[in-house]
Amino acid sequence: MGIEAEKRLAAEAAAALVEDGMRVGLGTGSTVAFLLEALAARSLDLRCVATSPRTEEAARALGLAVEPFESFDRLDLAIDGADQIAPDGWLVKGGGAAHTREKIVAAAADRFVVIASSDKPVDRIEPPIPLELMEFGLPATLRALEPTTLRDVPRSPDGGVIADYRGSVEDPEATAARLAATPGVVAHGLFPPSLVYEILVARGDRVQRLVPPG
Ligand code: 5RP
Repeated sequence: MGIEAEKRLAAEAAAALVEDGMRVGLGTGSTVAFLLEALAARSLDLRCVATSPRTEEAARALGLAVEPFESFDRLDLAIDGADQIAPDGWLVKGGGAAHTREKIVAAAADRFVVIASSDKPVDRIEPPIPLELMEFGLPATLRALEPTTLRDVPRSPDGGVIADYRGSVEDPEATAARLAATPGVVAHGLFPPSLVYEILVARGDRVQRLVPPG
């Protein structure tokens, strides 16, 4: 079974966790695109929040009700993809530059469920780590974050500049703390295991369920 079929399988497994009346956070990316289809097919009464304009547009086109995230202060469930999944549950997100909103949505959810194909688990987290930076003082922020490169993509919907930290990530917790503590960093793409409820990884025609320790 190919990677696209695995993405669909993981997405369908996550869609099965959604119940009528839930407030659901919708992630961003190609795995989430399968989730949107699977969710729409269930015709549930849901109130959804989207982590990007592209997800919002796709969800609405499929008939899902998307509301602004000013409408809720918590979500029942958020479902999203990932770029890297470490054995201890650390994630890298932001390949689609949506990590700032994705982290806010994940943190607001009672359960944050990650969906992935079998190419996403890694032995250890490797750079690059996506960043969203303020434009104000950008050269100074980039200097403080060396080695970091700007990504040639549009600004985030919140006006942030997208970049990638290319330094060592031997200790994800220490790197996350350093990135978060650097003035000018809006958000970074390291997501701690404490944020994650479960990870659904499709391998061939089976879905493996991983629960991060703690
Ligand atoms: C977007 C993300 C995505 O969830 C991540 O890049 C995985 O994408 P895909 O499902 O297309 O592999 O973090 O910012």
